[in-house]
Amino acid sequence: MHKQNKLPISKVASAVEPFHVMKLLGEAKALEAEGREMIHLEIGEPDFPSLDCVHQAVTDAINHGNTHYTPTLGLPALREKLSRFYHDFYHADVAAQRIVMTPGASGALHLLLTALLNPSDKVMMCDPTYPCNREFVNLLHGEVLSVPVEASTGFQLTAELIELHWQPGIKAVMVASPSNPTGTLIEQPELLAMANFLSEQGAYLIVDEIYQGLVYERAAETILANANLPDNVVVINSFSKFFGMTGWRLGWIVAPEFLIPALDKLAQNLYLAAPTPSQYGALRVLESDALAALEQRRQIFEQRRNRLYDAMMSAGFKIPCKPAGAFYLYWDVSELTDDAEAFCQTLMLHTGVVVTPGKDFGEYRSRQHVRIAYTTGDNELLEAVRKIQSFINNDG
Ligand SMILES: Cc1ncc(COP(=O)(O)O)c(C=O)c1O
Repeated sequence: MHKQNKLPISKVASAVEPFHVMKLLGEAKALEAEGREMIHLEIGEPDFPSLDCVHQAVTDAINHGNTHYTPTLGLPALREKLSRFYHDFYHADVAAQRIVMTPGASGALHLLLTALLNPSDKVMMCDPTYPCNREFVNLLHGEVLSVPVEASTGFQLTAELIELHWQPGIKAVMVASPSNPTGTLIEQPELLAMANFLSEQGAYLIVDEIYQGLVYERAAETILANANLPDNVVVINSFSKFFGMTGWRLGWIVAPEFLIPALDKLAQNLYLAAPTPSQYGALRVLESDALAALEQRRQIFEQRRNRLYDAMMSAGFKIPCKPAGAFYLYWDVSELTDDAEAFCQTLMLHTGVVVTPGKDFGEYRSRQHVRIAYTTGDNELLEAVRKIQSFINNDG
């Protein structure tokens, strides 16, 4: 008989955390297969398909034989177009040479951190945060310094918190505005204060602007529009969220010029180039008619946010920070449970509503929080609130 040896995998692969919500999603799919109606509020991507004009442009590009590698840093025309986009929409002067196309923001984060970190370098980030950030640092044998954040700072780091928790060996601080899982923003003066403090310390500020464009009741922003920005600031972005192109796997980095050769060398080795058809699609999605269609979708997200938030508040649920961006609400369930994961599971079994337990985003008070994604239509959102309310009234 053939003997099965279990060969070892790497320590980082053993230690890496999965998305805990995937277990819930698996159970939800099984219930759906049995004919149960589920409402999915756990999904962190727009429910809209990518735009038809993008599909057409990509079909044309493929028909013209544009299926080979692009230069590692990206299609020159796309880097130029993004540079103009920053100028036209954000009044930010970003030279095309500073823009690096990547396979999603995920590829951007991996590439950038590989360029910055030595083993044992520390990276500060808030708790709760986008979970992969911790894992990227772990993959590189860096050290994650998680700083618990409260509703009083919009669940975000501040320049004051960074100073308070400062210690030797910190190479970079990572922030996201708007943030996942809370949908909150960091104001520009605060970001600038962070950048200046970190510049004095010789550390980088990494600003994840992946939800840029999805902001409500105010204009979208970029840290890159600030005059006198020190050159320790690196911006991460993507075509996934505002542009509605999650599956196209295309993002970008805006880095200070001195980092570009290192990013280029590393990208050549890590993935050679970002997907070519996607880059042609991105060229099209930056045209004004496509941007106008995306603005309409933004308005739909804003309307959903308003309806969901109002319904949750009327039901007496606790949302400590009204989100100003992205498509998430961070719900404080401390009055209902001290085990958000079990709560989400019971909620799903009893009501068919699937939400993400705080555990996926960190440790700090994560057992008392749940993330709701409004990546589904108004009717389903309101139905979900009704179902949650009746579940709590009957069981709670
Ligand atoms: C804050 C944040 N950064 C980065 C990513 C990665 O996105 P992508 O690789 O699709 O561009 C996500 C995805 O949800 C996110 O929420």
